Amino acid sequence: MDHFLYRDGILHAEDVAIPEIAAKVGTPFYAYSAATLTRHINLFHEALDGMEHLVCFAVKSNSNLAVLKLLGDLGAGMDVVSGGEYRRAIAAGVPGNRIVFSGVGKTRDEMRLALTHGIRQFNLESEPEMLALSAVASEMGVTAPVTVRVNPDVDAKTHAKIATGKSENKFGIPIARAREVYGQIATMPGLKIVGIDVHIGSQLTDLEPFRQAYEKVAALTRQLREDGHEILRLDLGGGLGIPYERSNDAPPLPIEYGQVIRETVGDLGCEIEIEPGRLISGNAGIMVTGVIYVKQGEGRNFLIVDSAMNDLVRPAMYEAHHDIVPVIESAPGVEQERYDIVGPICETGDTFAKERDLAPLAAGDLVAFRSAGAYGAVMASEYNSRPLIPEVLVMGDQFAVIRARPTYEEMLERDTIPAWL
Ligand code: LLP
Repeated sequence: MDHFLYRDGILHAEDVAIPEIAAKVGTPFYAYSAATLTRHINLFHEALDGMEHLVCFAVKSNSNLAVLKLLGDLGAGMDVVSGGEYRRAIAAGVPGNRIVFSGVGKTRDEMRLALTHGIRQFNLESEPEMLALSAVASEMGVTAPVTVRVNPDVDAKTHAKIATGKSENKFGIPIARAREVYGQIATMPGLKIVGIDVHIGSQLTDLEPFRQAYEKVAALTRQLREDGHEILRLDLGGGLGIPYERSNDAPPLPIEYGQVIRETVGDLGCEIEIEPGRLISGNAGIMVTGVIYVKQGEGRNFLIVDSAMNDLVRPAMYEAHHDIVPVIESAPGVEQERYDIVGPICETGDTFAKERDLAPLAAGDLVAFRSAGAYGAVMASEYNSRPLIPEVLVMGDQFAVIRARPTYEEMLERDTIPAWL
């Protein structure tokens, strides 16, 4: 459930009518619902109720400072994968001891940054990274808390570009080698083992891969304890999928996911960390766009809208489906038209959806892309010199621009023409 509903035939974000936001900020824009973000983080708290836990929001899914502040104030930790994301988490007021640092290529500068301002743990992904962190921490005279991200070699059954837990993926250390690597870490200066980390992929719509991975992590926990290591925490990653198609998607609920956690690792006495991104932010956001033209093609109608693949790249990149709905609800019984919904960018990949049935639309009408709060704004670019689109946060009957649309001047000013040219 989210808080983007029709009232009197007009799509609202909580208590604010979408056309009101459009009139103020122009289209296209992203709009997020604070109540939905709050509801989603609380679903995870309920799912893990009774177990010591920390929900670390995957900042990569939506890194706007206002979103991070809202979630941080609700007690969330943050999962970051770059110095930039780390800085965002800190700037949003999240204390270092609630930030976990993931990612396959942490640089020494990023390690130094996190060790200076505070970090809950680094999730190590390779031996060279382990050596680098040991060197950096020793140099600084501090101890870095670490887990090892193990690759459990399970099939997450999701889109190939976002599966991470198979042995052929670049992520983690093969679980079969984990004991050896933990043995090594225990002898290294500047590192302290605090737990185990695993993340097998994103947009998982089946709990079985989670169960398989977590069973392997449970077995490894026992082995490592026998080897004399202290395993206090298990970071179980993110990845729980969301319904993108209201009509026929029903992925597992957080409460069911929590049950899998309980059944697989619940008896180990470890603190549980999870790193959900999409489930928290995905359905907490929409992208609103205006229709520029309706073009009659050969046997089809094109709805040419003012947003494009640079603003929301998921359909072009992953063949992802986003429900697309009119902002002004069509009258009941109106005959639908079939549209291909496309942006103005000069390549065929700039197609959001094919053959969607919608009530007839005309230039100037508004439509909303649902489920756009995760991996939307964060993956945007200025391709075709289209300035990044603004982000708006709604809370009850108030809304604020939380990232302004840059002016064309601001966009051009970032380039420099050398004096010698
Ligand atoms: N933890 C780690 C280490 C991750 O790599 C990811 C996502 C997450 C947590 C959060 O996963 P989530 O709960 O959001 O599924 N751009 C793609 C998704 C890429 C996900 C990458 N890693 C998309 O638009 O579908």
